Amino acid sequence: MKGIILAGGRATRLRPLTWVISKQLLPIYNKPMIYYPIETLTRAGIKDILIILAPENAGLFLNLLGTGDQFGVHFSYVIQKEPKGLGEAFILGEDFLDNDNVTMALGDNIFDEDFSKQINSFKSGGQIYVKKLDRIEEVRRLGVVEIDKNNKVLSIEEKPEHPKSMYVSTGLYTYDSRVVEIAKNLKPSARGELEISGNPSISNTFLESGELKACVFDSYWQDAGTFDSLLEAGNHMAEKEKLAKKI
Ligand code: TTP
Repeated sequence: MKGIILAGGRATRLRPLTWVISKQLLPIYNKPMIYYPIETLTRAGIKDILIILAPENAGLFLNLLGTGDQFGVHFSYVIQKEPKGLGEAFILGEDFLDNDNVTMALGDNIFDEDFSKQINSFKSGGQIYVKKLDRIEEVRRLGVVEIDKNNKVLSIEEKPEHPKSMYVSTGLYTYDSRVVEIAKNLKPSARGELEISGNPSISNTFLESGELKACVFDSYWQDAGTFDSLLEAGNHMAEKEKLAKKI
């Protein structure tokens, strides 16, 4: 199993914070944001990680992260010239993946969970990581996942007016090696991006052949891409650190 972290993009929702610095280098309390997806993958035992960067700030990431020694893993880097969508990661990563399975983490998603079991037991198809939320207004803004009693995915809908469930898709995805060919054959969505959820998308392709599974988790998760969620994630991690120190 190899890892990919998507740390490019435009981060328009965080301007002016992100005019001259990448979103994934902004602080979440006492660490740069990208440390979190790195920890999500390394905690699961993934040691070979490709980091996808936008051209503007690539040097800063190299200075910060280097070869990966400090994390006990190996980093490779690739530049994404334009943010053409999350699905492009697998095309850019084709040589790196070299027919291996992959778990991809979004560079701005903060988890506090050990996914080793779910990732290590992965066999084939696609596997997404879903969380049940409480508030319907929140669910309506996200990718909603309908699952059966065996956690097989029945549908994924992006930002539905009438959600079929309260489970949402988070920024972590595991696919088998077919993902590269699927990405290459994928048509861009209405907004011109190669999508990972929604229609058409990579997850939807695995879903159509009945090969998409959901791993349900209940611990902390935040997509830190807006002012409020960035602040919330920082506060959450501050509380956690302080509690750990007290104990
Ligand atoms: P998003 O939050 O969907 O996009 P963004 O970061 O450009 O932000 P905004 O919507 O505010 O403009 O991206 C999720 C993650 O994926 C984030 O870490 C950036 C990364 N990304 C890429 O690396 N390449 C891409 O083409 C896109 C769309 C996102």
